[in-house]
Amino acid sequence: MKIKAVNGFKDILPDDALRRQHIEQTARDIFARFGMQEIRTPILEKTELFARSIGEATDIVEKEMYTFVDKGITMRPEATASILRAFIEHGLHVRQPVHRLYTIGPMFRHERPQKGRLRQFHQMDVEVIGANEPQVDAELMAMGQMLLDTLGVTVSLEINSLGCPACRPGFRDKLMAYLNQHKESLCPDCRRRMNVNPLRTLDCKNRNCKDLVQDAPSILDSLCNDCRDHFVSVKQTLDLLGVAYRVNRFMVRGLDYYTRTTFEFITDALGAQAAVGAGGRYDGLLRQLNGPDLPGIGFALGMERLVLLMEQQEDATPPKPTTDLFVAVLGEKAAEHASILVHRLRKLGLTAAMDYSGRSLKAQMKQAGRLNSRFTLIIGEDELACNEGVLRDMNTQEQSKFSLSLPMDEQAQHMTALLSA
Ligand code: HAM
Repeated sequence: MKIKAVNGFKDILPDDALRRQHIEQTARDIFARFGMQEIRTPILEKTELFARSIGEATDIVEKEMYTFVDKGITMRPEATASILRAFIEHGLHVRQPVHRLYTIGPMFRHERPQKGRLRQFHQMDVEVIGANEPQVDAELMAMGQMLLDTLGVTVSLEINSLGCPACRPGFRDKLMAYLNQHKESLCPDCRRRMNVNPLRTLDCKNRNCKDLVQDAPSILDSLCNDCRDHFVSVKQTLDLLGVAYRVNRFMVRGLDYYTRTTFEFITDALGAQAAVGAGGRYDGLLRQLNGPDLPGIGFALGMERLVLLMEQQEDATPPKPTTDLFVAVLGEKAAEHASILVHRLRKLGLTAAMDYSGRSLKAQMKQAGRLNSRFTLIIGEDELACNEGVLRDMNTQEQSKFSLSLPMDEQAQHMTALLSA
């Protein structure tokens, strides 16, 4: 029996890797424009970190974590908790008041795999620690939107406010009272959730529950003055920056650490997996993890969902990489000459390739085509005898002579000059 990859864990084959490189590079460029610095944290963390941040009663912590029970460690299901742990552990706040950090890497959740939902998936995660201002919330959303626009994917931005420890309990009570009146119509999941985290009923996918919560009290009517002002400023700043959004009062997040602003970049092109990216504010989280009392906000984009979306939109295809020169050879002597030339060209920064297996000229020209070569240099016995290879421009099919009699270094330089002309 052949051994296959574990269910929900996917190989990233070269074409896919190429697209991801393009996405990551675009993200790094845009993040840098917003002053973000990269941080890399380990895959494994103490299990307690996630229990204390994401929340004991969340789906992630309750049933989706890959935990080594005997060792008390877990493969990270997300990056926020790890970044905050590192921030606190290294006392980063002592050096400067506001930190803008990002990380790109694999996360692990034991969910039921389906299109756009994997057990090992990849996030591009951004966190701004130490900034209270609503303008920062809007700036982060604008950055996410800029990245998605640059990648050519169409999504919509939805925003909400989840209030703070001062106003959320009041809302929770109102919602509980409403849910209690309609308990029989709720799905079994929501009936169970109701007492642990009633807000989760607001984004239940069950049709009955969806209908029912339409008339439930809105969190936006329960916000305290500070939270309301904050939300108004977030919306005003988004307007100023020209970022389109829709307020969705039913948006609650699956992680417990959020306060005030939450947001999601959503699409209807990926079936049930609507969120391409999501995030929000977590003002009490650093303190909760025994760190300094600093606010924070961040979001993460899901790489696999981005890739799927880009695949659906052909103009977002990244250009295929090109080979500057393919050297087609006939005979051992020609191959020896070519191998030295190819190596020198690579040293000079060109992408060069050749065939070592003694295939026919026709087969080698096909290979040059597959490699998307701009030029091909043909060296057969005749060419060696008169010390002149044939250089073919693969676009125009124009041919010219290339001298093979110069010292190798000079040949390489001459070729580099010809190809960059
Ligand atoms: P999240 O909503 O759990 O938030 O995940 C963010 C994004 O990761 C989702 O919108 C989705 O694109 C992607 N994602 C999540 N689970 C999967 C999966 N099983 N397969 C494929 N993609 C997935 C967080 O993780 C927060 N840490 C975001 C954040 C950062 N909040 C503040 N800072």
